[in-house]
Amino acid sequence: MERKIIITDDGSSSIYLPEWDETYHSKHGAIQEAYHVFIKNGLDLFKNNSKLAILEIGFGSGLNCFITFIEAGKRNLKIDYEGVDAYPLKAEEILQLNYIQQLNIQTKRNLFEKIHAIPWNKRQIIEPDFSLKKRKQFFEDIDEINKYNLVYFDAFGARVQPELWTEAIFKKMYDALKNKGVLVTYSAKGSVRRAMQTVGFTVERLPGPPGKREMLRGTKH
Ligand SMILES: C[S@@+](CC[C@H](N)C(=O)[O-])C[C@H]1O[C@@H](n2cnc3c(N)ncnc32)[C@H](O)[C@@H]1O
Repeated sequence: MERKIIITDDGSSSIYLPEWDETYHSKHGAIQEAYHVFIKNGLDLFKNNSKLAILEIGFGSGLNCFITFIEAGKRNLKIDYEGVDAYPLKAEEILQLNYIQQLNIQTKRNLFEKIHAIPWNKRQIIEPDFSLKKRKQFFEDIDEINKYNLVYFDAFGARVQPELWTEAIFKKMYDALKNKGVLVTYSAKGSVRRAMQTVGFTVERLPGPPGKREMLRGTKH
């Protein structure tokens, strides 16, 4: 499928799929959305100095992984991160992403490059407190049990991939989480909330990122 690099309203890049008229991030701001949904309403639930296992549904541009790495360092978190994606970006697409400039962290450029350069399907140490395994895999094939503290659910929208916002997929996420584990997603759809509740999540509706009224957070009890 054709992919085009675009600039979102906060100046940060994203990727656009003309065939689906779908973007990898909010058009209102990729970095703003990623910080709001995944850091503020996800990572920030965990106390400084804890050890976390994170699963990302849709590794894509690596933006969520990269900002998690940056923020984990500030909070003294020790993180084992797994990003799943069946359709990794090409090196020439990654080169066009402007996250280093937009986040104004030139000193971390080599780490963004390392995140992308490491091989798929092999856990690698990015820095002593941050390991990463990029998994080239379909979401439908995820089958871990009681492994993760946090799931970043960042699939394309239900309009284009309704099969990924179903009870069957959320059951996999629920099973993959440890007790008290949390799933965050940018979606606020009623059907998504009900699917999450049906498989067992306690679901909160939270204020959404710029341009979006609400988002969802589910907790496993
Ligand atoms: C919204 S984008 C992820 C954005 C990403 N989190 C980021 O920060 O750039 C959704 C991702 O899901 C991947 N994808 C779509 N369908 C999939 C499937 N069935 N299994 C695995 N990956 C899939 C796409 O390749 C794409 O990278």
